[in-house]
Amino acid sequence: MARTLAELRSRRWFADAGMRGFAHRQRMQQSGLRREDVVGRPIVAIVNTWSELSPCHAHLRERAEAVKRGVLLAGGMPLELPAMSLGEVMVKPTTMLYRNLLALEVEELLRSHPVDGAVLLGGCDKTTPGTVMGATSMGIPAIFCPAGPMLNDRYQGRTVGAGTHTLMYWGDYQAGRIGDDEWVSLEARMTRSPGTCNTMGTASTMTSIVEALGLALPGSTSIPAVDSAHPRMAAACGERIVQMIWEDLTPRKILTRGAFLNAAAVQMALGGSTNAAVHMIAMARRAGVELDLADLDAMARRVPVIANLFPSGDRLMEDLHYAGGLPALMNVIRAHLSLDEITVTGEPLRAQLEGRAVLDPQVILAPDHPVSPRPALAVLRGNLAPEGAVIKPSAASPELMRHRGRAIVFDSPWR
Ligand code: FES
Repeated sequence: MARTLAELRSRRWFADAGMRGFAHRQRMQQSGLRREDVVGRPIVAIVNTWSELSPCHAHLRERAEAVKRGVLLAGGMPLELPAMSLGEVMVKPTTMLYRNLLALEVEELLRSHPVDGAVLLGGCDKTTPGTVMGATSMGIPAIFCPAGPMLNDRYQGRTVGAGTHTLMYWGDYQAGRIGDDEWVSLEARMTRSPGTCNTMGTASTMTSIVEALGLALPGSTSIPAVDSAHPRMAAACGERIVQMIWEDLTPRKILTRGAFLNAAAVQMALGGSTNAAVHMIAMARRAGVELDLADLDAMARRVPVIANLFPSGDRLMEDLHYAGGLPALMNVIRAHLSLDEITVTGEPLRAQLEGRAVLDPQVILAPDHPVSPRPALAVLRGNLAPEGAVIKPSAASPELMRHRGRAIVFDSPWR
């Protein structure tokens, strides 16, 4: 149902006729804003996970400016709020300790400030589920603006990407096949630009899942971080969130069980990270949706891996973009999707897949010629993991499909 000006949440702060309203407006004027900048228009929070220790998000300050342009053009007022950056490689002992802290931070940032909607800037692994979980719990309209993947690099005739080839070259170095000088020079390779890891690791999996859920603009996930299309997409996020505020299009209206099953289908078609199981179930619970490992296992048995992306395949996210991105991939598996789910566009998924063809059949394959005969995920149960464990058969060596060996077991203190 559409909202009126009088129903805007921010008016509790800025339209108040008493002393408190005076103080709120006075403090915005202290920032150089005019009274009319904050009274009578939607206030949009730009939740920014930029930091200098999060190189995947190095461009997000500039992208926040593009988002602001979109918000202003649509008649809203953008205000940027910094949030915990969680750069995956730098944060110790593990960013997983802080995902829920980021979710809490985002929820409370939005709750405690005079904002009517939010654009979430993230992408490095846990920042995606963290910001989405926080915004879902808060319940105001929100759109996710993915940081985008870093560019492919080339080294000695080979396409190389972050993380994919470090282990391989480390093996070569350990074996003496490359020397000290080359090993040091490799530090300057593979991470060619700002942006998230360009393999189908956790970052690409989670941003893709969020697009498949309907919380990001169609096709936004695979746009390389430094492509000129990226700031245009960011501006479109800013423009769209203002409309979503008037439409009162909140995350819970988008995050249905059908949307989560769509996201699971996309995870399987992409050969996505098994970490997605943890995050997707957590995001579903925030939205009040039933989702469990059995749902993911069932989807993995139905949807083959058709994206030729490392580690199941050998291409990178930039290649997926040139191949048509997620809309093209989703079109190929549309028989497994619930096409009536509403997305941030305000339209059903069906409308945004219309005419989105595969532009490179070497990257997005046909379902009858998948990347691997094995699925992207399998749930294992047994005495070592009575509540279930997940593996990625499509990226595992065939000999690991049946294995006898010594088990190292870590018991969970939280059970
Ligand atoms: Fe940031 Fe991989 S380290 S996405």
